[in-house]
Amino acid sequence: MNWLVHELAAHPHFLPEVIDPLELDLPMRHEKQASPAVAELRQRVARADGFIVVTPEYNHGYPAPLKFLIDSVGAEWEAKPVGFVSYGGVSGGLRAVEQLRQVFVELHTVLVRDSVSFATAWEQFDEQGQLRQPERARRSLEAMLQRLHWWGQALRTARTSRPYRTAA
Ligand SMILES: Cc1cc2nc3c(=O)[nH]c(=O)nc-3n(C[C@H](O)[C@H](O)[C@H](O)COP(=O)(O)O)c2cc1C
Repeated sequence: MNWLVHELAAHPHFLPEVIDPLELDLPMRHEKQASPAVAELRQRVARADGFIVVTPEYNHGYPAPLKFLIDSVGAEWEAKPVGFVSYGGVSGGLRAVEQLRQVFVELHTVLVRDSVSFATAWEQFDEQGQLRQPERARRSLEAMLQRLHWWGQALRTARTSRPYRTAA
């Protein structure tokens, strides 16, 4: 996560904001009346033009707190692009990403094909959280960011000219 934020902060087209499920005071279940934490989360998602979901992989899936965060938000996701950065053991979190693609289709997002993944992540980063060999990951990230930026701009223009919900 720190690596990604650092790379994005140095990028001319992105203004990153981190939303970490562990730092949100989300309730244990979905409630009819949105709690202040859920209301704030929705506002933060509504403000964004695109998303990069960072996920590890546990038993071939993505973590429950991430799913709860995703499900706590609704129309605020719509007509916006989503890219993925994943990490884990042998799979580099790619199985978790494939499952997340199914979830985000349901939320009317546009999925960026290119992603970044770190297999045996603990070997790739040093004690300071720096990548030992950053070139390959940077290339993958750049490809993903180009598409994310293109879709982010295109869909913002489209949402402005015609609300997504009336476009069906
Ligand atoms: C219970 C458990 C199950 C795991 N399952 C997988 C897995 O299915 N695939 C994989 O690539 N890595 C797996 N891992 C490795 C984790 O993805 C890896 O430890 C990762 O760094 C965890 O990230 P986190 O500490 O940020 O949650 C597993 C780890 C644990 C503890």
